[in-house]
Amino acid sequence: MKKIIIEAHLDIFDSMSELPEEIQKLLNKAQQARENAYAPYSHFRVGAALQLAGGEIITGNNQENAAFPSGLCAERVAVFHAGSNFPNETITTMAITARSLNHTVTVPTPPCGACRQALAEYEVKQKSPIAIYFMGEKGKVVRANSVKDILPLIFDSSYL
Ligand code: THU
Repeated sequence: MKKIIIEAHLDIFDSMSELPEEIQKLLNKAQQARENAYAPYSHFRVGAALQLAGGEIITGNNQENAAFPSGLCAERVAVFHAGSNFPNETITTMAITARSLNHTVTVPTPPCGACRQALAEYEVKQKSPIAIYFMGEKGKVVRANSVKDILPLIFDSSYL
Protein backbone atom coordinates (compact mmCIF):
# COMPACT_ATOMS: atom_id res chain seq x y z
CA MET A 1 0.00 0.00 0.00
CA LYS A 2 1.19 3.47 -0.83
CA LYS A 3 -0.32 6.77 0.28
CA ILE A 4 -0.32 9.79 -1.97
CA ILE A 5 -0.93 13.38 -0.96
CA ILE A 6 -2.69 15.71 -3.39
CA GLU A 7 -1.98 19.39 -2.82
CA ALA A 8 -4.20 22.29 -3.84
CA HIS A 9 -2.79 25.79 -4.02
CA LEU A 10 -5.22 28.63 -3.40
CA ASP A 11 -4.55 32.35 -2.97
CA ILE A 12 -6.67 34.30 -0.51
CA PHE A 13 -7.16 38.06 -0.89
CA ASP A 14 -8.64 40.12 1.94
CA SER A 15 -10.85 42.06 -0.43
CA MET A 16 -11.48 42.80 -4.11
CA SER A 17 -9.34 45.94 -3.88
CA GLU A 18 -6.20 43.77 -3.60
CA LEU A 19 -6.84 42.39 -7.08
CA PRO A 20 -5.74 43.74 -10.48
CA GLU A 21 -8.21 46.08 -12.18
CA GLU A 22 -9.24 43.56 -14.86
CA ILE A 23 -10.17 41.01 -12.20
CA GLN A 24 -12.15 43.59 -10.24
CA LYS A 25 -13.98 44.40 -13.48
CA LEU A 26 -14.77 40.72 -14.03
CA LEU A 27 -16.04 40.37 -10.44
CA ASN A 28 -18.19 43.48 -11.00
CA LYS A 29 -19.69 41.83 -14.08
CA ALA A 30 -20.42 38.72 -12.01
CA GLN A 31 -22.08 40.89 -9.35
CA GLN A 32 -24.28 42.55 -11.98
CA ALA A 33 -25.21 39.17 -13.45
CA ARG A 34 -25.97 37.86 -9.95
CA GLU A 35 -28.75 40.42 -9.53
CA ASN A 36 -30.61 38.91 -12.52
CA ALA A 37 -30.54 35.42 -11.01
CA TYR A 38 -33.84 33.60 -10.98
CA ALA A 39 -33.71 32.11 -7.49
CA PRO A 40 -37.26 32.27 -6.04
CA TYR A 41 -36.76 29.02 -4.09
CA SER A 42 -33.33 29.33 -2.48
CA HIS A 43 -33.14 33.15 -2.40
CA PHE A 44 -29.44 32.50 -3.04
CA ARG A 45 -28.24 34.44 -6.06
CA VAL A 46 -25.06 33.47 -7.82
CA GLY A 47 -23.37 35.36 -10.66
CA ALA A 48 -20.52 34.19 -12.87
CA ALA A 49 -18.44 36.03 -15.44
CA LEU A 50 -16.01 34.45 -17.87
CA GLN A 51 -13.15 36.27 -19.56
CA LEU A 52 -12.41 34.97 -23.03
CA ALA A 53 -8.97 35.40 -24.59
CA GLY A 54 -10.55 37.37 -27.45
CA GLY A 55 -11.74 40.02 -25.00
CA GLU A 56 -15.43 39.06 -24.66
CA ILE A 57 -16.97 38.64 -21.23
CA ILE A 58 -19.73 36.05 -20.84
CA THR A 59 -21.99 36.13 -17.80
CA GLY A 60 -24.50 33.76 -16.25
CA ASN A 61 -26.60 33.41 -13.13
CA ASN A 62 -28.50 30.60 -11.44
CA GLN A 63 -31.83 29.66 -12.98
CA GLU A 64 -34.08 27.71 -10.64
CA ASN A 65 -37.14 25.64 -11.43
CA ALA A 66 -40.21 24.45 -9.51
CA ALA A 67 -38.98 20.95 -10.37
CA PHE A 68 -35.78 21.62 -8.39
CA PRO A 69 -33.22 19.48 -10.30
CA SER A 70 -34.23 21.12 -13.58
CA GLY A 71 -32.54 24.38 -12.58
CA LEU A 72 -28.92 25.22 -13.34
CA CYS A 73 -26.07 26.91 -11.49
CA ALA A 74 -24.65 30.25 -12.61
CA GLU A 75 -21.27 28.76 -13.55
CA ARG A 76 -22.74 26.22 -15.95
CA VAL A 77 -25.14 28.76 -17.47
CA ALA A 78 -22.07 30.91 -18.25
CA VAL A 79 -19.69 28.18 -19.41
CA PHE A 80 -22.31 26.49 -21.63
CA HIS A 81 -23.12 29.87 -23.19
CA ALA A 82 -19.42 30.37 -23.92
CA GLY A 83 -19.09 26.82 -25.25
CA SER A 84 -22.08 27.19 -27.55
CA ASN A 85 -21.41 30.71 -28.84
CA PHE A 86 -17.60 30.89 -28.78
CA PRO A 87 -16.62 27.25 -29.32
CA ASN A 88 -13.05 28.02 -30.36
CA GLU A 89 -12.27 30.70 -27.80
CA THR A 90 -10.06 30.12 -24.79
CA ILE A 91 -11.55 30.88 -21.37
CA THR A 92 -8.85 32.52 -19.29
CA THR A 93 -10.66 33.44 -16.07
CA MET A 94 -13.92 32.90 -14.23
CA ALA A 95 -15.28 35.16 -11.47
CA ILE A 96 -18.03 33.96 -9.14
CA THR A 97 -20.00 35.78 -6.47
CA ALA A 98 -22.99 34.84 -4.33
CA ARG A 99 -25.53 36.75 -2.28
CA SER A 100 -28.40 35.53 -0.14
CA LEU A 101 -31.59 37.46 0.44
CA ASN A 102 -31.67 35.92 3.95
CA HIS A 103 -28.21 36.75 5.31
CA THR A 104 -24.97 38.47 4.31
CA VAL A 105 -22.63 36.07 2.54
CA THR A 106 -19.09 36.91 3.61
CA VAL A 107 -17.64 33.43 3.07
CA PRO A 108 -16.24 32.90 -0.46
CA THR A 109 -18.61 30.60 -2.34
CA PRO A 110 -16.83 27.97 -4.45
CA PRO A 111 -18.45 26.32 -7.49
CA CYS A 112 -20.35 23.12 -6.68
CA GLY A 113 -18.97 19.73 -7.69
CA ALA A 114 -21.05 19.45 -10.86
CA CYS A 115 -19.88 22.90 -11.99
CA ARG A 116 -16.25 21.98 -11.28
CA GLN A 117 -16.66 18.92 -13.50
CA ALA A 118 -18.28 21.02 -16.26
CA LEU A 119 -15.48 23.60 -16.04
CA ALA A 120 -12.83 20.85 -16.10
CA GLU A 121 -14.18 19.69 -19.46
CA TYR A 122 -13.40 23.08 -21.03
CA GLU A 123 -10.00 23.33 -19.38
CA VAL A 124 -9.05 19.94 -20.83
CA LYS A 125 -10.56 20.87 -24.21
CA GLN A 126 -8.64 24.15 -24.49
CA LYS A 127 -5.43 22.71 -23.03
CA SER A 128 -4.86 25.74 -20.82
CA PRO A 129 -5.89 26.52 -17.24
CA ILE A 130 -8.88 28.58 -16.22
CA ALA A 131 -8.17 30.80 -13.21
CA ILE A 132 -11.14 30.92 -10.86
CA TYR A 133 -11.88 33.75 -8.44
CA PHE A 134 -14.73 33.28 -6.01
CA MET A 135 -16.26 35.35 -3.25
CA GLY A 136 -19.46 35.93 -1.31
CA GLU A 137 -21.23 39.24 -1.42
CA LYS A 138 -18.24 41.02 0.12
CA GLY A 139 -15.04 40.17 1.94
CA LYS A 140 -12.35 37.69 1.02
CA VAL A 141 -11.71 36.49 -2.52
CA VAL A 142 -10.18 33.07 -3.23
CA ARG A 143 -8.17 32.37 -6.37
CA ALA A 144 -7.50 28.93 -7.82
CA ASN A 145 -5.12 29.07 -10.77
CA SER A 146 -6.70 26.02 -12.39
CA VAL A 147 -9.84 23.89 -12.08
CA LYS A 148 -7.41 21.10 -11.14
CA ASP A 149 -6.79 22.88 -7.83
CA ILE A 150 -10.44 22.59 -6.82
CA LEU A 151 -11.17 19.23 -8.46
CA PRO A 152 -8.45 16.66 -7.91
CA LEU A 153 -8.80 13.36 -9.79
CA ILE A 154 -10.94 14.87 -12.54
CA PHE A 155 -12.76 12.46 -14.79
CA ASP A 156 -12.05 13.35 -18.40
CA SER A 157 -12.25 11.78 -21.85
CA SER A 158 -8.94 9.97 -21.35
CA TYR A 159 -10.84 7.41 -19.24
CA LEU A 160 -13.40 6.63 -21.93
N1 THU B 1 -25.67 27.56 -7.09
C1 THU B 1 -24.94 28.07 -8.12
O1 THU B 1 -25.45 28.82 -8.95
N2 THU B 1 -23.63 27.75 -8.18
C2 THU B 1 -23.00 26.92 -7.31
O2 THU B 1 -21.86 26.54 -7.55
C3 THU B 1 -23.67 26.49 -6.09
C4 THU B 1 -25.14 26.68 -6.08
C5 THU B 1 -27.10 27.87 -7.04
C6 THU B 1 -27.99 26.69 -7.32
C7 THU B 1 -29.26 27.10 -6.62
O3 THU B 1 -30.01 27.90 -7.50
C8 THU B 1 -28.77 27.96 -5.46
O4 THU B 1 -27.44 28.34 -5.76
C9 THU B 1 -28.80 27.25 -4.12
O5 THU B 1 -28.11 26.04 -4.16
